[in-house]
Amino acid sequence: MIYLDHNATTTMRPGILAAMLPYLEGPSGNPTSVHGFGRRARQGLDQARRQVAQLFGVHESLVCFTSGATEANNLAILGVSGMRNQPGHAITSRIEHPSVLAAFDLLAQQGHRVSFLNVDGAGRVNPEELRTILQPDTFLVSVMHANNETGVIQPIHTLGEMCREAGVLFHTDAVQSVGRIPWHYEALPADLVSLSAHKLGGPMGVGALIMERTMPLQPQIVGGGQERGRRAGTPNLSGIVGLGAVAQILSHHPQEEIATMTRLRNLMEGELMANIPGLFLFSSEAERIPNTSMVGIEQIHGETLVMNLDLAGIGISSGAACASGKGEGSHVLGAMGVPAALTQSAVRISLGWNTQMFEVERLIQQLISIVARLRGGSGAMV
Ligand SMILES: Cc1ncc(COP(=O)(O)O)c(C=O)c1O
Repeated sequence: MIYLDHNATTTMRPGILAAMLPYLEGPSGNPTSVHGFGRRARQGLDQARRQVAQLFGVHESLVCFTSGATEANNLAILGVSGMRNQPGHAITSRIEHPSVLAAFDLLAQQGHRVSFLNVDGAGRVNPEELRTILQPDTFLVSVMHANNETGVIQPIHTLGEMCREAGVLFHTDAVQSVGRIPWHYEALPADLVSLSAHKLGGPMGVGALIMERTMPLQPQIVGGGQERGRRAGTPNLSGIVGLGAVAQILSHHPQEEIATMTRLRNLMEGELMANIPGLFLFSSEAERIPNTSMVGIEQIHGETLVMNLDLAGIGISSGAACASGKGEGSHVLGAMGVPAALTQSAVRISLGWNTQMFEVERLIQQLISIVARLRGGSGAMV
């Protein structure tokens, strides 16, 4: 079996499970308990917080653990808006993850005005558009760092600078970029950054929101005073320890890993384009993270391709995991102005930190032969 859907979730890295096990097997105390068990649990939590803070080059007090990036995105957007005592204006882009778009829907329902940044045909936001739609009462801008479907890297440094100048909070969903491109988190002009452990080689069900300790934020889960009152509930300790362990690995800049992914991705794209007539590589002219290729193949439904590759033991996706099975076309490709027929043919291939040459070669060979077989039929869309 060959797994090439690492943007949906990626394989756990070596050493992560071992770091988590003592907290799973126990006896592990509750980090808020005062006895020795609780203190040891607390040490695990504190160490993970330091490890995540180190990856981002920030003080550990800026790290708020959550159940994943969906919650981190909700907390950032609804937490900031929840502190307002009057409606205002908030901006996002049309290509965000549903956890951001749905939170913006809620903002609109609560009476805030919401604006959406467009993208060009390659899936890029234009910072100049932000300049034109910022308003005196704009309180938040949320734009993702790298898109989960196309892999396109957004100009978040420019967007963040603009927000800073305008005195507007800037949030970025960095789920797909952390560990995949070398970037200096500490130099990023963002007030809130979301991340998710299972996209980095850590466990599912844990993530973090990085934000200034003093930032006024309305908690979205209330109860005990955990996470400095920002996120109530007994923390997912073993998961958090896993996130800390993966952050530590990524702190040592996995340059070699990034170089290998880039080489494999370039080889794959080159071979597919050379050997499959009618293959279109989305966002090819944009700067992209090194592991993601979204392609459309004329006359062939993305779902058909995914199923045929699955039968051959290869897992790719016909879009974002959260949209799969809903039968809806990609809102990202829609925003890029891609015609509906080509949108239906889209598939996403996303490589991982552990992807090897033979896996990419097998995908190339299988894809070429499946397309040839499917096209051998009537010539109609299959
Ligand atoms: C860009 C982006 N943001 C947010 C999420 C949600 O992350 P989680 O699975 O941790 O809730 C995902 C995962 O699909 C994603 O790709």
